[in-house]
Amino acid sequence: MLNTIIRNMGISPEEDQEALRQAGEILRTGGLVAFPTETVYGLGGNALNPEASKKIYAAKGRPSDNPLILHIAAPEELPPLVRRIPDYAGKLMDAFWPGPMTLIFEKSDIVPRETTGGLDTAAIRMPSHPVANAMIREAGVPVAAPSANLSGRPSPTTAQHVQEDLDGRIDMILDGGAVDIGLESTILDVTGEVPVILRPGYISREDVERLIGACEVDPAVLKKPSKDLRPKAPGMKYRHYAPKADLTIVEGDPERVVAVIRQLTEQSLAAGKRTGILCARESAPQYSGFAVKDIGSRRNNATIAHNLYRCLREFDDENMEVVYSESFREGELGMAIMNRLTKAAGYHILKV
Ligand code: TXA
Ligand code: MG
Repeated sequence: MLNTIIRNMGISPEEDQEALRQAGEILRTGGLVAFPTETVYGLGGNALNPEASKKIYAAKGRPSDNPLILHIAAPEELPPLVRRIPDYAGKLMDAFWPGPMTLIFEKSDIVPRETTGGLDTAAIRMPSHPVANAMIREAGVPVAAPSANLSGRPSPTTAQHVQEDLDGRIDMILDGGAVDIGLESTILDVTGEVPVILRPGYISREDVERLIGACEVDPAVLKKPSKDLRPKAPGMKYRHYAPKADLTIVEGDPERVVAVIRQLTEQSLAAGKRTGILCARESAPQYSGFAVKDIGSRRNNATIAHNLYRCLREFDDENMEVVYSESFREGELGMAIMNRLTKAAGYHILKV
């Protein structure tokens, strides 16, 4: 059991500087620091130190064949970590770094296989969150960081979520408040002729296509992985983001969806099960009387992305046994939201 230091950021420049200095020292000496990014909280360790990567896997309870993302503070830090940067990848970096985009390159020899889950490729990202950026600069090394949750729990969008999962297992948490986006970065494989989305995120397929003309999507992104359909991002094969409740997505004509969710919820309650509903702000009034969570507005589905993991964690805290959810496919962010939600539901979608 470690004594996890928790530091609130944004109180005064002096205190921030002191907390960042301490975080940098912990990282350089092989320890683990959780920190805010614009997507979700990350659990950082020195990416070039195999022992630090092993500690990350142990703290999360994560299988060590699941590679970590290396976080950098400036584009100049990329070339030593990779073999080759295709022209189109340079364009993507110019347009979207710093920001919620991770790129997969062939790795150089200085990146240990302990960090890349045994692969010859490395995932690299330059986050835009000022605390993340300043912390990586203080550390002076690339920072390997998966999401700062226990394996199998939703990614943390607040420092409290990190504390719930990892208190006593890591050295320090930098508390920068609630994150902005709420879903993990878009992962693009840039080792081939055209970029391939391995994990959808806030930067959409359309964003990439508008910039460089072509963008493919790994077929395993929206379907249930199987023997014939292995996701190229190893982490995507796990039933990530799994809430304790049995979650079912109900999809189809909006009025019919409301009627079916109401009916199923009544049946489930009659069977003595704690039952909740996850729905858009616009339809929440139609479920009054039930344990309903408004996830955000269909008119601005960034709000839905922002609240998804928090809502799933709240259902866990409330010990919900069954949850029925509406579907949120609309818009460019729909792919990222539904990728996470269908995984949380164990691919259980009821079409009505
Ligand atoms: O937004 C994010 O990306 C957050 C914040 C903390 O930066 N990080 C994050 O890391 O989501 P993690 O470890 O929870 O998810 C990383 C995903 C996993 O699915 C992993 O399999 C994939 O990236 N990945 C990492 N390196 C890879 C590689 N070389 N090839 C293919 N997939 C890779
Ligand atoms: Mg994760």
